[in-house]
Amino acid sequence: MTTPHTPRGALIAIEGLDRAGKSTQCDLLLNRLLSSGIPAKLQKFPDRTTPTGTLINTYLTSSTPLDDQSIHLLFSANRWEARDSLLSTLLSGTTILLDRYIYSGIVFSAAKPPTPIKDPKQPLSIPWCKSPDIGLPKPDIIIFLNITQEDAEKRAGFGDERYEKRELQEKVRGLFEDLRGEDSNDKDDWWVVNAGGTVEEVAEEVWKGVLEALRRVKEGNGEVGSI
Ligand code: TMP
Ligand code: MG
Repeated sequence: MTTPHTPRGALIAIEGLDRAGKSTQCDLLLNRLLSSGIPAKLQKFPDRTTPTGTLINTYLTSSTPLDDQSIHLLFSANRWEARDSLLSTLLSGTTILLDRYIYSGIVFSAAKPPTPIKDPKQPLSIPWCKSPDIGLPKPDIIIFLNITQEDAEKRAGFGDERYEKRELQEKVRGLFEDLRGEDSNDKDDWWVVNAGGTVEEVAEEVWKGVLEALRRVKEGNGEVGSI
């Protein structure tokens, strides 16, 4: 007798600069998936509700100094503590939308200016920033909401948090570009959407990326990949 087989859910990461519209699009997408009869869940990173998330929130909303490496590892720990639940949710057949994931983790840390006490020419490198996340579940697609700096700055709330400064955001933009082109094996993982359109226009383009992710899962071997 064969056991009934539940196809796994898709792991879909939504990435982009601050104020690119990620959270708005995630909410719309969650509703669209659910109303299409596809079980789905939203997971935001950083998850500010956990003990590590509380520390991260304090860091982001204050000017308290904290070592760049330490806060980087804390962001990664915040993902690791969610790993088991991400995997069991996916394997139970539920699709997960990630509002930011390891890619934000890499580029925001690597974008920081070096501190004088460290090698002044060497900020945190991309391989160093990526290493603590190695082994986490790999998304089936990374939907990147691409927005110009001018459009991001026009959006409500820009500048409220620690990293919402023009110079750093420009750096983040360049590093996201590097990451998308970095490794030809990972190139197919990225689905770039012009996020400068209306909410509805962007949602349509995002939906195409989701259909692509669902297709990949259907054609895959049922296993969740690893970073
Ligand atoms: P949020 O606005 O999506 O809550 O993210 C808060 C900030 O944290 C945002 O500026 C991006 C940054 N960030 C990191 O620096 N490292 C990470 O691993 C993640 C997930 C976000
Ligand atoms: Mg933010």
